[in-house]
Amino acid sequence: MKSYQTPRGTQDLLPSATAAWNKVEDLIRQMCHVYGYSEIRTPVFEDTGVFKRENDSSDMVNKEMYTFSINNEDSLTLRPEGTAGVVRSFVEHKMYGAPDLPARLYYMGEMFRYERPQKGRYRQFNQFGIENIGAKSPYIDAECIALGYSIVKALGLSQIKVLINTLGDATSRRNYRETLLDYFKDSVSELCPDCKRRYEQNPLRLLDCKVDKEHPVMKNVPSLRDSLTEESKEYFDKVLKALDGMGIPYEVDDRLVRGLDYYTDTVFEVVSTHPESGSQSAVFAGGRYDGLVQYFGGPEMSGVGFAMGLERLMLLAEAEGIDLGGVPSDDVYVMALGNVEDAPLQVAVKLRAAGYRTSFNVAPRSLKAQFKSVDRSGAKVVVIVGESELAEGKVNVKHIATQMQTTVEISHLVETVDNLLNEEGE
Ligand code: HAM
Repeated sequence: MKSYQTPRGTQDLLPSATAAWNKVEDLIRQMCHVYGYSEIRTPVFEDTGVFKRENDSSDMVNKEMYTFSINNEDSLTLRPEGTAGVVRSFVEHKMYGAPDLPARLYYMGEMFRYERPQKGRYRQFNQFGIENIGAKSPYIDAECIALGYSIVKALGLSQIKVLINTLGDATSRRNYRETLLDYFKDSVSELCPDCKRRYEQNPLRLLDCKVDKEHPVMKNVPSLRDSLTEESKEYFDKVLKALDGMGIPYEVDDRLVRGLDYYTDTVFEVVSTHPESGSQSAVFAGGRYDGLVQYFGGPEMSGVGFAMGLERLMLLAEAEGIDLGGVPSDDVYVMALGNVEDAPLQVAVKLRAAGYRTSFNVAPRSLKAQFKSVDRSGAKVVVIVGESELAEGKVNVKHIATQMQTTVEISHLVETVDNLLNEEGE
């Protein structure tokens, strides 16, 4: 018989892991809440054109998309990222017409990229991301970084570094494009096939090449800074000043251009400096985009956002020794003594209705075996349902911390457990 495993580049998250994930997701939602961001959920697949824009030079769009078509219907693609779908939705639902812009949106969910899997890089992975759409201000760029930064800090990560750069406005980028085309014109034939494509499509992305990074021509590439317009410089200085004001340390990295094509002005990447993070060190990354809302048929409006890789966040938390806990303990365990039929279930349901995480003994087992289960469950209170007490409508309640045992009417059970657990909590 064939045995099945998770497909390459995917993973199962078992209960011992999902408890920690839930905690992190709760923290993220709480932080989004205080920053005024609301959740948006878009489909996991979209029309391919949502992601594949004409002349896009990124690896993600050109090599990594799970694209399919069924029954000759239009081509669909599993989302490789969240931004394009969210902007599509922003335009489709005319959110640009809202009286108070920008829209502050966040999302969490699975993304799919056909990449070579390794630690921290998967084919199905989870991103938490935010998109702030409909206003352009250096203070919003800074706010965006602050939100991501507060999350990693609240989680307890200490070994992280904010890298930031600006790609400038359209004029700056046009200037720089010309400079790069000229600079690389004699050496492009010596570069990798991807770089040849980048030279034609988006020369800025030559700076991002991992294959040719040791090529001599890459050592003296003219700096983007020299092509920036005064407005772009001023805009970027304001972003940096706002980060200073919030006490967020950063490093300006002249070579940071990011892997996606839609960026303009501010781009950033927050990386782990922990030795175990290896080559997949970016925890969250993003930047401003000016053309996307228009691409989807909306007005000329700017947006900014980032996405955080949740698998990477969890790996880094583990590497830094942050304890996020495991499967939660039970509050109550219901034991069965003698032939009590479905009574343990009935008792458990009453306790669950009162909000107590409760397990009950199912198959007939010795008291010793049941007490072992109590230990493993972490329950603080044990209810023993015995034949003779049950006949009188009663059960025994044992408080683990004090080892005190009492017999109570089933109708008073919840009250008794309330008292025991509240006393313990005090
Ligand atoms: P990205 O840099 O492609 O940006 O991805 C953001 C983050 O997702 C990365 O920093 C990393 O933590 C995580 N990530 C990416 N690929 C993988 C993978 N194969 N396995 C595990 N984690 C991964 C974006 O996706 C943009 N949409 C961000 C953005 C939002 N820009 C503006 N708004």
